[in-house]
Amino acid sequence: MEDKELFEKLGKIEVRTGKERQIKSYVLRNNVLDEKDQEIVRKYFPKYGLFYEEKPLNFKEVFNNNKPNIIEIGFGMGDTTAKMAMFKNDSNYLGLEVYLKGFVKLLSTLGEYSIDNVRIMRFNAVDVLTGMIEDGSVDGFHIFFPDPWPKKKHHKRRIMNQEFLHLLATKLKKGGYIYMVTDWEEYAEEVVALEPNEPLLTNPFGGYAPPVAWRPMTKFERKGMEKEYTINEIWFERV
Ligand SMILES: C[S@@+](CC[C@H](N)C(=O)[O-])C[C@H]1O[C@@H](n2cnc3c(N)ncnc32)[C@H](O)[C@@H]1O
Repeated sequence: MEDKELFEKLGKIEVRTGKERQIKSYVLRNNVLDEKDQEIVRKYFPKYGLFYEEKPLNFKEVFNNNKPNIIEIGFGMGDTTAKMAMFKNDSNYLGLEVYLKGFVKLLSTLGEYSIDNVRIMRFNAVDVLTGMIEDGSVDGFHIFFPDPWPKKKHHKRRIMNQEFLHLLATKLKKGGYIYMVTDWEEYAEEVVALEPNEPLLTNPFGGYAPPVAWRPMTKFERKGMEKEYTINEIWFERV
């Protein structure tokens, strides 16, 4: 693919049907690739990047193995994604993020450390799940420190709501999990309260889950801890 086409395609981050969900869980900041970014994209996108396509994603074809497939939603700068993929390399990871700088940063980390078990897409996770991920095909979802949208008038932007939880649940295999971590207490309470209304899911811990040993600390977690916020872990499973 020509560079120009590659960079233009990377700029498109949602399906525009005119009917799509109007409320977005993100706002876009910088949408421009500087020269250094372009170089990284040129070098590493062919190996690690995927474009949105209106057809089911074949995990086996993409990763060339039968390992469990984990989808991470909103990986930010991707530091946690890269570390987890290296330490817990018994799984494949598909990272979804709309933030261009973060996307390019993870591309460069993956390339630099030759991490083979990660692929990333710069696209709205809601569209990717709806348009590309088959029902019952995912082993786990990671959602680490989703934007809390603290102002009451912005709560509707929170990615985790009843509808989105149902979408995640339908995409999981039986026994698959949803693992969310947040330092925003009231958001955590809200999400725990969604589960009893979702018949496809169960919460094996009743309330919050204990931390897992294999999750590296994220940038947002460090910031939250500096402010002495409580970190709450939420773990649901597909019945
Ligand atoms: C607060 S940041 C957390 C980043 C990272 N998980 C961490 O803990 O450092 C939330 C991220 O989710 C991304 N995001 C929000 N809505 C999204 C969506 N619908 N699709 C893909 N990414 C999304 C944002 O761009 C942002 O980078």
